[in-house]
Amino acid sequence: MGADVDTAVSALLRGELVILPTETVYGLACDAGNPRAVAKVFEAKGRPQFNPLIAHVTGLEGALAIAALSPRAQRLAQAFWPGPLTLVAPIRDSDAVSDLARAGLDTVAVRAPDHPVAQALLTAIARPLAAPSANRSGRPSPTSLADALEETGAFAAAALDGGPCRVGLESTVLGEIEGELVLLRPGAVTRADIERIAGPLAPGLGEGHRSPGRLARHYAPSKPLRLDVLKPSPNAAWIAFGPEPPGRASSLNLSPTGDLAQAAANLFAFLRAADRTEAALIEIAPIPHAGLGEAINDRLQRAAGRVG
Ligand code: TXA
Ligand code: MG
Repeated sequence: MGADVDTAVSALLRGELVILPTETVYGLACDAGNPRAVAKVFEAKGRPQFNPLIAHVTGLEGALAIAALSPRAQRLAQAFWPGPLTLVAPIRDSDAVSDLARAGLDTVAVRAPDHPVAQALLTAIARPLAAPSANRSGRPSPTSLADALEETGAFAAAALDGGPCRVGLESTVLGEIEGELVLLRPGAVTRADIERIAGPLAPGLGEGHRSPGRLARHYAPSKPLRLDVLKPSPNAAWIAFGPEPPGRASSLNLSPTGDLAQAAANLFAFLRAADRTEAALIEIAPIPHAGLGEAINDRLQRAAGRVG
């Protein structure tokens, strides 16, 4: 099912799209400097063109070629790259990341993914790749090649297999707005991780602040989703978290031991699995809010349509 890196490079250089594994979720990648290719990504996802894409690079050097990262942002990149952190900074090279990829903004979001296949592709092509999550707009992100193919495979000229995604939630997105660090999207690099390196974050999420993709209902399964359920209803597909009474364990337990990293890695695949059952709705147990729980609960709130 999976193509090789050389095939993927040729496809990208022809302006075609490639399904790309990362440690967070699968992406639908294109040459960020080719507006026709970028337009195909928006079309494949059914994504509104006001929502900018992340430019993927191998590391800090590649990022500095396209983005004016502040000293503080560079410290964060050094601490967490390659890894699930995206930094928004003023654009430096608008040929390498086209206006369309940036949705016309004078900033660009950059990240260096921590996945050997993504790194191999970025090294081979030696230019930034724009890649949103490979789901259709509004749906849960794909965390396996099969899920990515089901969502946007029809639009991709090649698909690279990287196995199941280790993190399972999209990267943390961080902006610098009027000198303040603002969390635009929580992820596996947590608030505490960031504050340890860069000092205090602005309180809350920077929703209204140039975080264009965060306004709509997002990550949503087709069935209605109820959160923070303690006792599942008989007609619901039940997604549990933590230890369950013996003999009554759910087939979908995000982490029987209550481990948030394991829960994050399972979340989108379990929402898809629950969606495929005959049940009328999906119910999910409460997830603690600390650490990675902030990112998990952020996705759940949006999937349930409670935000935006
Ligand atoms: O983990 C990830 O970040 C995955 C993998 C494939 O790298 N990508 C991903 O991309 O989640 P996407 O397009 O689904 O989400 C990108 C988010 C959106 O919320 C978008 O609005 C925001 O980043 N974003 C992109 N460029 C921005 C910019 N210049 N300013 C503010 N937000 C930006
Ligand atoms: Mg997405």
